[in-house]
Amino acid sequence: MPQPEFLPIQWKSTHLSLLDQRALPGKKEFLEIHTMEETIVAIREMAVRGAPAIAITGIFGLTLGAKEKQGNLSSVEVDSLIKQMFESRPTAVNLSFALKEAKKRSEGKTDWESIQRVWESYALEMMVEDLRANQMLGENGANLFPKDQNEIHIITHCNTGALATAGHGTALGVIRSLRDQGKKVIVYADETRPFLQGSRLTAFEMMEEGIECYIITDGMSGWLMNQRKIDAVLVGCDRVAANGDTANKIGTYNLAIVAHEHNVPFYVCATKDSFDFNLKTGDEIPIEMRKESEVTQFDFLKTSDGNYLLPEGKTAPFGARALNPSFDITKAKFIKNFITELGCFVPTEISTRLKKV
Ligand code: MRU
Repeated sequence: MPQPEFLPIQWKSTHLSLLDQRALPGKKEFLEIHTMEETIVAIREMAVRGAPAIAITGIFGLTLGAKEKQGNLSSVEVDSLIKQMFESRPTAVNLSFALKEAKKRSEGKTDWESIQRVWESYALEMMVEDLRANQMLGENGANLFPKDQNEIHIITHCNTGALATAGHGTALGVIRSLRDQGKKVIVYADETRPFLQGSRLTAFEMMEEGIECYIITDGMSGWLMNQRKIDAVLVGCDRVAANGDTANKIGTYNLAIVAHEHNVPFYVCATKDSFDFNLKTGDEIPIEMRKESEVTQFDFLKTSDGNYLLPEGKTAPFGARALNPSFDITKAKFIKNFITELGCFVPTEISTRLKKV
């Protein structure tokens, strides 16, 4: 677990304190957020990211929105707050489920203080529940590995750890649980272009935990699977459709195909809040397109006096165009198991095993 000062989402009763993940690993800085609009910007600009963390932050943001109103809130005004928050980032389904639940809990209430109270207590409840679910998921995943195997080599993608959740993490939660069972875990963290969640955040979390971790670029996984025995690929997800197709950080699909070719088991780790049975297949999952400059320049290639080492930090010719889909869809056929807090399921089982919960 990260030290308390690194808990990424901290509710301070009057405002929200968010560890600014854009500045990691260079600086551990907190953003003090007092308004709903500031919360939306923090989500959109990825100061906070990861499907579960976005959902929890979104509900704290609504709480701030209710407080800003300081009067009665009509159901039209409640809907408008919810709609604005919903539009912050579209792919991860956790936020949209949480907003629906927030709406349900505020029904029949009109004064801002009662609405704020139910939203605040819901967000705090989500934090407790997400941590508990991640710990159970972690144990379920760890139990998939042979008891007598002491050294386990895992490739992971993006960041799915304590920074992306209320703690422990999903794919990184399994890694933490394996470590807690006394195993030596060796992690290969895809750097995860273009936002570098793997090299900036996963490597940071693994180093904080003392877990052996090597950063690889996203194109190195095939080489690695040929060179070393990789026991599993573990990834998180942003939304799973009813047939098991899974949206996760761009690059996940490529990794799944490479794993399939090398007979390396590919596991998707997620709590039940990431399963969207309203969608039949992954084709229906909306994919967020982010700005081209995330691909064409590194803003962090700056000297301490603020000058870019490359002009404007650009790593591409001026005027070069880029595509920047933030997520991709991994077909269910490449997924060996979904690892959840309720157990481990093959794709064809998820709608019966997780739907009614
Ligand atoms: O764009 P991000 O950093 O929010 O994307 C995060 C991911 O894709 C994670 O794998 C996913 O949200 C699961 S986090 C437990």
